[in-house]
Amino acid sequence: MMDFIKKEIGPELQIFEKKFESAMQSKTPLLDRIMKYIIKRKGKQIRPMFVFLSAKLQGEINESTYRAASLVELLHTATLVHDDVVDESLERRGFFSINAIWKNKIAVLVGDYLLSKGLLLSTTNDDFEHLHILSEAVQQMSEGELLQMEKSRKLNLSEEVYFEIVKNKTASLLSSACAIGAYSTSKDKIITNKMKTFGEKVGIAFQIKDDLFDYGKEKIGKPTGNDIKEKKLTLPLIYTLNKIDKPTRRRLIYILKNENKNPKSINFVISTVEAFGGIQYAKDKMIQYKNEALEILYSFPESSTRKALEELVLYTTDRKF
Ligand code: IPE
Ligand code: IPE
Ligand code: MG
Ligand code: MG
Repeated sequence: MMDFIKKEIGPELQIFEKKFESAMQSKTPLLDRIMKYIIKRKGKQIRPMFVFLSAKLQGEINESTYRAASLVELLHTATLVHDDVVDESLERRGFFSINAIWKNKIAVLVGDYLLSKGLLLSTTNDDFEHLHILSEAVQQMSEGELLQMEKSRKLNLSEEVYFEIVKNKTASLLSSACAIGAYSTSKDKIITNKMKTFGEKVGIAFQIKDDLFDYGKEKIGKPTGNDIKEKKLTLPLIYTLNKIDKPTRRRLIYILKNENKNPKSINFVISTVEAFGGIQYAKDKMIQYKNEALEILYSFPESSTRKALEELVLYTTDRKF
């Protein structure tokens, strides 16, 4: 997997890991232990890959590209640590989440620490454009998470609102990753904006894929069936609820409200969604966004970097975890 990507930015990714590690260091023993724990269980790092490839598509990777990649991954890690508190989720990247081991109080502070480390990295280097692009994303992420919370409480969600949530909570960071990558080598506002739109399409496809995982039985390193437990209505279920007969709809809503922690009932929801084509519908939408992203990418001249980016886009929708 990812052959083109390794060939294209392999050395850069190795250097990045060292820089990222040192950006996370702390003199506080407890924090240092937790940082080491996080580094050991690192994720797929697809956001740094998007930073580097978007940068290389426009010019030569430089120090500011590296800082952009670190900033994005630090913010991403911070939001995941907080997200697992919010979602009461005990598993992340195939192991215990921070809140599972150190509890919520510490997890909240660890998230703040990571966020501040990212901000410091930019301010000490006068990366104001980075800060400008990323601050907007962080704002959108919080808004997306809160909108999601409000909607899951009321249990009504239209497709339109779903896409607004997804755009805010997930696509915003991916789109910033592509934008600051491109900016770091081009300093060109128009190109930066184009890459931002590209990243947004990829990000939406990426989150639909994540939501589809929740309906599957594959081991993905974090819990599945969790969205239903959290009364989180995602695209497969939204589509199904809007399409099925009234009695089944009422039964599903009853389960979400009253039996959302009951494994048997959760399985009923999952099999109903499957039977009514909710999974297929979400897959089709995901592919649609993926293709829109590729179309933007193809407007750049053909090159090995473009090929690698293409592979990374395909990976976001074909990935196994
Ligand atoms: C998980 O992102 C959070 C979502 C936006 C769905 P990733 O799947 O990229 O997480 P890691 O970094 O690889 O663990
Ligand atoms: C991911 O949201 C976190 C953010 C985008 C802020 P989810 O709660 O949907 O993702 P997972 O499934 O826990 O990774
Ligand atoms: Mg969440
Ligand atoms: Mg979550």
